[in-house]
Amino acid sequence: KTLIFLGPPGAGKGTQAQRLVAEKGFVQISTGDILREAVKNQTELGKKAKEYMDAGKLVPDDIIIGIIKEKLQELEGKDIILDGFPRTIPQAEALDKMLPQVGRTLDGVILFDVPDEEVIKRLSGRRVDPKTGKVYHIIYNPPPEGVEVIQRDDDREEVIKKRLEVYHSQTAPLIEYYRKQNKLLVIDATKSPDEVYKQLLSVVK
Ligand code: AP5
Ligand code: ZN
Repeated sequence: KTLIFLGPPGAGKGTQAQRLVAEKGFVQISTGDILREAVKNQTELGKKAKEYMDAGKLVPDDIIIGIIKEKLQELEGKDIILDGFPRTIPQAEALDKMLPQVGRTLDGVILFDVPDEEVIKRLSGRRVDPKTGKVYHIIYNPPPEGVEVIQRDDDREEVIKKRLEVYHSQTAPLIEYYRKQNKLLVIDATKSPDEVYKQLLSVVK
């Protein structure tokens, strides 16, 4: 299977992807995670990406498309979730070209539907375990005792606002793009993580 998780920052894409990975054997390809890892390791990619990410802007399409191409080749035959990719029309068009080349067809694009006010609450309370990458929330899903968590660099208020702006202007057009392809599946992502997961399972199978 080949799934895309589409939705605003903080919609719960990563949270639900981690669960599908744990319970259904999917592999998650999160362009955000790949970029953060590169920044941490100060690779060439990381050096290029950091300033865009810290500003809440998108990293240039050619860089991102290159990353995905490599991953698709590496993961041939596996069930995958594209988490946070594509994010622009040119990325989606590039993906449409790449998929048949690696023997895949797109099964569905899951739109995590959630309003901006909720996004702001979720992102300002998000914490991450840097050792495992597991995602928590100080109120909705507090980390277990003894687990040391950190806050993402881009989860500051000004950057959150910019990311939302970028989502509405550059990524939201993909909703129509995939609706026209008959691939769009909308889920109500304002519900609890368990309820969102249930909706996800019902549209994924
Ligand atoms: P990326 O890492 O993809 O960030 P994002 O899209 O902004 O999404 P998030 O990871 O913030 O949110 P999420 O939907 O995964 O939510 P989560 O599950 O963590 O991208 C970061 C940056 O990298 C971009 O700004 C850009 O610069 C660059 N980049 C990445 N991909 C790119 C691309 N394709 N092109 C160009 N640039 C790219 O949940 C959020 C919080 O809510 C957590 O605290 C969680 O515990 C909580 N939560 C989750 N579900 C629920 C629920 N149901 N109820 C209550 N709380 C919940
Ligand atoms: Zn994420």
